[in-house]
Amino acid sequence: MLVYFELQEANFAILCVTFILIKESKIIEDMSSSPQLVCVNDYEKKAIGILDANARGYYQSGADDEQTLHDNVADFKKWRIRPKMMVDVSRVNLQTSLLGSNIAFPICIAPTASHKLAHPQGEIASALAARAMDTCFVLSTLATTSAQSLAESVPNSLKWYQLYITKNRNIAKEMVKRAETYGYKALVLTVDTPLLGTRRADVRNRYRLPPHLRMENFDGISALSTELNAKKKGSGLSIFTHEFFDQSVTWADIAWLKSITSLPVVVKGVLTAEDAEHAISAGVAAIIVSNHGARQLDGVSSTIMALSEVVRQVGGRVEVYVDGGVRTGTDILKALALGARAVFLGRPVLYALAVSGEQGVRDILTMLARELKLAMQLSGQTDVNDLSKDLVVHESRIARL
Ligand SMILES: Cc1cc2nc3c(=O)[nH]c(=O)nc-3n(C[C@H](O)[C@H](O)[C@H](O)COP(=O)(O)O)c2cc1C
Repeated sequence: MLVYFELQEANFAILCVTFILIKESKIIEDMSSSPQLVCVNDYEKKAIGILDANARGYYQSGADDEQTLHDNVADFKKWRIRPKMMVDVSRVNLQTSLLGSNIAFPICIAPTASHKLAHPQGEIASALAARAMDTCFVLSTLATTSAQSLAESVPNSLKWYQLYITKNRNIAKEMVKRAETYGYKALVLTVDTPLLGTRRADVRNRYRLPPHLRMENFDGISALSTELNAKKKGSGLSIFTHEFFDQSVTWADIAWLKSITSLPVVVKGVLTAEDAEHAISAGVAAIIVSNHGARQLDGVSSTIMALSEVVRQVGGRVEVYVDGGVRTGTDILKALALGARAVFLGRPVLYALAVSGEQGVRDILTMLARELKLAMQLSGQTDVNDLSKDLVVHESRIARL
């Protein structure tokens, strides 16, 4: 009997090791479906040629002069890596967890509106890619696919639901109820959007969803003026936000949100130590350092610059993630070294979706995981959970080391 159990255990161990090896090799071998697309920026260039002006302007733009949009990408390059040599990097662990849920690598999909502008399968294609790669997908309140149909099309996957607090609290309340019913594992409350930042391309294009698409999460809860005030000038989304989002929300409203849900609340849009402290006092489960892809207040810090301040203040009390400008494996290595547990991707997913749907999103996740793994091996690191701040130095300090 004992021998039988030992044999069973050995078999189980072999199965586990095989599974891990298959996953590892999948990351290495699962190259992009096109030999011409070898990095995330290649997808952006290709997508720009595919998308129409309305979608392109909406996806690409940042707020106002786009200073922060530029900095989100450029500031990653100001952090330099201090590699360790002669380390055994024959085995590297990329696996980690988000609020207790395991993911294959610390690269997740941020909530972005309107995936169906990029591809007819929209959010479902992105979530299928996230499931295939064993990572987390966050569905936007403003998605063109409802929480229900996404959950039915992509069961058995790690999904979070992004929420805005609406003037009519019944709308937010019903969305929370649906997120719980359909198996979403956390609520991501975006705190940087009482109103929409000015995205000039959207003002010029009078950005609207085309008539065949809807913000489906509002179905059955609220009658949206579907043509979003078509006669009015400017961005339709900006008019909508002004009408629907509650501009009076404060940190005290997290207590209200926690009173209507048992799901953990993750706040997205924190950039300072003070707000990190407010968030923790309000009882959040995690913080996403984010400036909304530089689409809200131009002139705020890039997220990689803001990250250290927030991580220092949080001091390990809750998980901290970051998004904004992540485009390469070395960007991810730097974010993790500076204390983020995971990074989230916004535009890269939309561009990959425009280029080749679910496969495109799989490709960029694979690409970034592979780049992260190589960056770790070349810098003498073996576990994403063990990266520390001494792995990076800001370029302004190098001469003083
Ligand atoms: C087209 C677009 C739509 C977005 N929609 C939302 C949204 O509905 N809710 C939200 O919290 N953030 C939204 N964001 C912000 C993203 O969640 C994320 O913070 C940002 O895109 C990260 O920066 P990156 O695009 O440089 O990766 C959006 C961003 C873009 C580019």
